[in-house]
Amino acid sequence: MARHRVGTAPAGHRIQLPPQLTPFINRQREQGQLRPLLLEQRLLSLVGPAGIGKTRLALELAASVSKRFPGGGWFVELAPLREPEMLPRHVARSVGIEEEGGGDAFHQLLEALAEARALLVLDNCESLVEASALLVDGLLRGCPHLTILATSRERLGVDGELVWRVDPLDTPQAGRPYTPLQLARLDSAQLFVDRAWRSHPDFAITDGNASDVAELLRRLEGLPLAIELAATWSGALTPHEIVTRLDDRFQLLSTRHRAMNPRHASLRAAIDSSYDALQDVERGVFRQLGLFAGGWSIQTMAAVCALEQAPALRVLVSLVDRSLVTVAGDPGGTTRYRMLDVLREYAADKLREAGELDVAWRRFTASFLRIAESAAGRLTAAGGERRLQELGAEHANFRAILAADAPSDPAQALRLASALTDYWRLRGHYTEARLHLRAAVRRAPAYTPDLVGALQSLGMLAFLQGDQADAMRWTRRALAISERTSDRHGSLRALEQLARVQFASGDLASARACLERGLEPARRLGDPEILCTYQLLLGQFALAERRADDGVELLAGALELARRADHVELSAVASGLLGRLHLLRGRPDLAQPLLMDTLTSVRRFGSWRHVAPVLESLAAVAADEGQHERAAQLAGAAAALHEQVGARPPAASPVRAPLADRWARAVATGQGRRAFERGRTMDLDGAIRYALGEAAAAVEERDPAPRGSVGLTRRQLQIARLVAHGLTNREIADRLFISERTAEGHIEQIRNKLGFSSRVQIAAWLVEQQRAGGEGG
Ligand SMILES: Nc1ncnc2c1ncn2[C@@H]1O[C@H](COP(=O)(O)OP(=O)(O)O)[C@@H](O)[C@H]1O
Ligand SMILES: [Mg+2]
Repeated sequence: MARHRVGTAPAGHRIQLPPQLTPFINRQREQGQLRPLLLEQRLLSLVGPAGIGKTRLALELAASVSKRFPGGGWFVELAPLREPEMLPRHVARSVGIEEEGGGDAFHQLLEALAEARALLVLDNCESLVEASALLVDGLLRGCPHLTILATSRERLGVDGELVWRVDPLDTPQAGRPYTPLQLARLDSAQLFVDRAWRSHPDFAITDGNASDVAELLRRLEGLPLAIELAATWSGALTPHEIVTRLDDRFQLLSTRHRAMNPRHASLRAAIDSSYDALQDVERGVFRQLGLFAGGWSIQTMAAVCALEQAPALRVLVSLVDRSLVTVAGDPGGTTRYRMLDVLREYAADKLREAGELDVAWRRFTASFLRIAESAAGRLTAAGGERRLQELGAEHANFRAILAADAPSDPAQALRLASALTDYWRLRGHYTEARLHLRAAVRRAPAYTPDLVGALQSLGMLAFLQGDQADAMRWTRRALAISERTSDRHGSLRALEQLARVQFASGDLASARACLERGLEPARRLGDPEILCTYQLLLGQFALAERRADDGVELLAGALELARRADHVELSAVASGLLGRLHLLRGRPDLAQPLLMDTLTSVRRFGSWRHVAPVLESLAAVAADEGQHERAAQLAGAAAALHEQVGARPPAASPVRAPLADRWARAVATGQGRRAFERGRTMDLDGAIRYALGEAAAAVEERDPAPRGSVGLTRRQLQIARLVAHGLTNREIADRLFISERTAEGHIEQIRNKLGFSSRVQIAAWLVEQQRAGGEGG
C-alpha cells in the first residue's frame, strides 16, 4: 500500500550515531568531495594520524548521507575490541543481530545485509587491521548494495578501497598578516575560537592577538586535537604565552626524539603541555585513567583510583575542562567518561614511565573483579536487570583485562571470566564467553575449584549453543579434575551438567546413572542450590517417563529448595516443570497457577528461552480447558519467539510432544490458524501480558496483523506497534530486551520503509492498516 514510498528520502532519517557535545567545524571542501564519493564507492577509508579528525569527519559524513541509505546505517567502534576472531560477532551485534545457537556471525551478517542499501561505518580499523580487511572484503563481495566507510591510521588494503588521506584543518600561511576577519574564515581558527570560548567566554580574536593566534595555529599544524587542547589554556594564558610554552615543549621534544614525525611532534607538544599544567594529583589520576579501555563512571573511577567520589569528581571536572577527558553520555542514567584513543595511549605511556603500571593494573583488575563478583550470582534475582546493565557498561574494561596480551594474573583472569559467565549467558554473548573462558582455562596455573567451575561453564555454554560434543568434552574434564582434587562441589556440578547433556542427546540411562551417583553426596553437602538442580533434573526425567507421582514429589521439593535459596531462576524453572507435570496428569487447574507464577518471575529477566516453553504449556492448559483460540494464539506467540532469534523450536522431546499435541489440535481449525497468526505477531512482552491476562494485552490483540506490509519484518512490525502505543525508544528496548540503539535502528528502518518522518505517522499508519483490515503492500 505504501510501497511506492520505499526508497524515498524521509525527512529526519538519521543513522544511529554517538552524540557529540561540541559543534562540528565545516571542512566544507572535504565534505563536498567526500559525499558524492561515498554514494558511488563501496569502500571509502579515511586515513590519517591520531587526532586529525577522522572519526568526527566520518560521523558528519554519515549523518549527511544517511537519507540515501534506506536499508539503515550503523556506527561500529572497533577500538574496544581486542580479539580479531570476535570482530564479525561484534559487528553483527551492532547491526542488531542477537546471538543464539551456534550460528556463524559472518554469515548472519551477510544474510542480514544481503539486499540492504545500507551504510556501515567502522571506526578505528587500525586496532584490528587484518581482521577488518578480511571482514570488509567479505561483506562487500556478499552484499552488493552495502557501502562501508572506514577510519583507520593505516589503509585496509582491500580491493576497491578508496583511500582518502584526511588533511589537517585549513591553517594560516606563514609570513602573511591576518586580520581577525580573515582568520575567522579558516577552519582551524574557528575550532580554536569555539573551544577557547568554552573555557573562557570572553575570548575573541582581536587586532591585538590575531598574529599570535595565527602563529599558534601554524605551530599546531591544524591538528584538531592539538587545537582543542591548546584552546583550553586560553583562560589562563594569552595566545602569545601559549606559543611560548609550546616552543619550549618543541625544544624538549626535538632534543629527545630527533626522528619524530613533525605532525606527531605538534600533537605531542600540545598533549605534554596540557599534562604538565595539571596538578600532581590530577596527573596521577589521568595516568591511571589510561587503563580504562571502555570509559568509566564516577563509581568505577573512584574504586580504581582509590579516591572518594567527591575528589574524583573534582579531578574529573578539571580534566574535562582541559579536553583531556570527554563526556561519553549517560546510558541508563549514569554519566560515563572516556578519553580519545591518543590521549589514552599517552596516559598509559606515562603510567609505564612513572613505574606505576604494575600497581595500577593490579588495582584496576582487582576493582573490576570485585564489581563482577559482587554482581555474579545475583543477576537472575530481583534487580538483576540493573546489574546486567552495569556490567554491560563496563564490558570493554572487562575485555581489556581478559585480552590475550593483557598482563593479568591468570588466576584472577579465570575468576573474572567465571564471574562474568552469567552476564554473558543472559545477554547472549556466547561466543565471546567461550573464547575468554577457553583462554582463561588454558592459562590456569593449577587445578582449583575456579578451574573446575570454568570448565563446567564451558560445557554449559557449548550445550546452550547446541554443540554437544564440545559440551561433553569440557564437562568430562571438569568432572575428572574435580574428582582428582576432591572438589565435591565441583564434581556435583559437573555430574549434573553431564546428565543434562546426556539427557539432551537422548541417553536417559547414562543421565540417570550420573545423577544417582551424585544425589546422596549432594544431600550430604547441604547446598540447597545444588540439591535443587539435582531434583529438578530428576523431576524432568520423571516427567519424560510419565512417572507422575515421583515427578511431583521431586519437583515440589526442588521448588521448595529454590525458594529457600532465594533463586528466582531456579524457582521459575521448578514451578514451570511442576506445572507441566500437573498438565500431563490431567490437572490443568493445578498447572495454571504454577505456570502463571513462572511467567511472572521470568518476565523480569526473561529471555525468549525462558518464556517460550511456558507459553507452550499455557497453550496446552487452554486447550485442555476448551479455550481453543487462546491455545492457538499462545502457541503462535511461542513459535514467534523461536523464529525471532532464528532458533528452531525444540525437537519433539518426550516432555514437549504430548503438550504440543494438545494445542496442535486447537490450531488445526480455521479460527485456530488465525489465532495462531495473531499470536505470531506478538512480541515478548505482549505475549507475556496476553498470557497473564493483563489489560494491555487487549490492545495487542485488536491490533492488525499486516504481516509483510510494505516489507516490514515481524520485528519491525512489533516495534511499529510499540511506537504507536506511545512507548519511548528506551521503553521499547526494555520490553524487547534489545539495546536502545538497536531499537532506534529498527525505528529508522521502519521510517525508511514506510517513508515516514515521525512516530506519529507510524502510529497513524497502523491505525489505517487496522481499518483496511490488516492488508498492506
Ligand atoms: N571538524 C571538526 N570540528 C570540530 N571538532 C573536530 C573536528 N575534527 C576533529 N575535531 C575534534 O578533534 C578531536 C580529534 O578528532 P577525532 O575525530 O577523534 O580524530 P581521529 O579520529 O583522527 O583520531 C576530537 O575531540 C574531535 O571532536
Ligand atoms: Mg578516531
